[in-house]
Amino acid sequence: MATDVDETQRDALAERLFGAALGAYELMTVHLGDRLGYYRALAERGQLTSAELAEATGTDERYTREWLEQQAVAGILGVDDVAADAAERRYGLPAGHAEVLVERDSLAHLTPMARYGVSFAQALPAIEEAFRSGGGVAWEDFGALGREAQGDVNRPLFTSLLGSEWLPAIPDVHERLLADPPARVADVACGAGWSSIAIARAYPKASVDGLDLDEESVALASRNVAESDVAGRVTVQVRDAGDPELAGSYQLVTVFEALHDMSRPVEVLRSLRGLLAEDGAAIVMDERVADAFTAPGDEIERIMYTYSVLCCLPVGRSEQPSAATGTVMRTDTLRRYAAEAGFAEVEVLPIEHETFRFYRLHP
Ligand SMILES: C[S@@+](CC[C@H](N)C(=O)[O-])C[C@H]1O[C@@H](n2cnc3c(N)ncnc32)[C@H](O)[C@@H]1O
Repeated sequence: MATDVDETQRDALAERLFGAALGAYELMTVHLGDRLGYYRALAERGQLTSAELAEATGTDERYTREWLEQQAVAGILGVDDVAADAAERRYGLPAGHAEVLVERDSLAHLTPMARYGVSFAQALPAIEEAFRSGGGVAWEDFGALGREAQGDVNRPLFTSLLGSEWLPAIPDVHERLLADPPARVADVACGAGWSSIAIARAYPKASVDGLDLDEESVALASRNVAESDVAGRVTVQVRDAGDPELAGSYQLVTVFEALHDMSRPVEVLRSLRGLLAEDGAAIVMDERVADAFTAPGDEIERIMYTYSVLCCLPVGRSEQPSAATGTVMRTDTLRRYAAEAGFAEVEVLPIEHETFRFYRLHP
């Protein structure tokens, strides 16, 4: 027989999951608005009727009208006259919402998280199978949506913070990147290339070699570099960072939000150590997770575990043998990997960020 306590727990969870379902479904409609160019058209043209928005985006008026009504009901868009005929109503982006929905370099830009969610949903049958078989799901199976989401999620952080706050907070690295002879930087697992571009922008003498295992990510990075103002100083190529043949001599080697995804993190750290010039520094940025397992956890811990279950652990296990790290790579785990790779010390850098922690690995 249910007790009062059971019923309170039952109702609290039911309410919580209803809210989560509502949020998840609304996020998918945000994804549609992003992909179909609805938000961009509204940001550029101001208030529009459903027919005007459909015309501007090359979409169907009836679907567009339903989406506009849904967005207004959800409080994401504003509507000028609720009582007007459906076809006459004009919808617009509230001033504060434009940055979140369309400004790709804003730290408040959040539509890439919707894209990430959709890429996870697409991969769910393969993830379910991996849970049964113990296999993995390759990063390329998360498709263009996953790659672009990853690139766009971190893009504002790199373009706004990497060259102006994060690297200047490591004084000797900052000075060396500014100095002569021009510094060389290896950006390991560069993904869409935004970190490589940001470093080259911040340090006009430096050249950056980005490398990544995933061909499509490198193709995306090549396009981003080609369209940037630093194309002459950034190269990107398809390479396995764990390849013992990897050669070079770099003043800075970076791994941004990627070590926990790698099947063989120790091999990667070992070859990364081999890339360091005598005055070289190795910097790893990874998730700012707690030092030990705790449950229930805070929002950072919760979101990192969702990434782990839905993406990073299956990706890490897509090649065998695998360290099977998962997104929740705690500082102790990194220290163990670094020691096995021959690094003498792992320093936690005093760089404050809500979701990321920065480590310097001393040879
Ligand atoms: C989560 S993404 C991070 C990309 C980018 N650094 C960023 O912050 O957006 C992880 C990346 O690691 C790359 N990767 C995984 N294992 C690798 C390896 N052994 N060598 C090079 N890249 C690797 C993947 O292809 C993917 O692009």
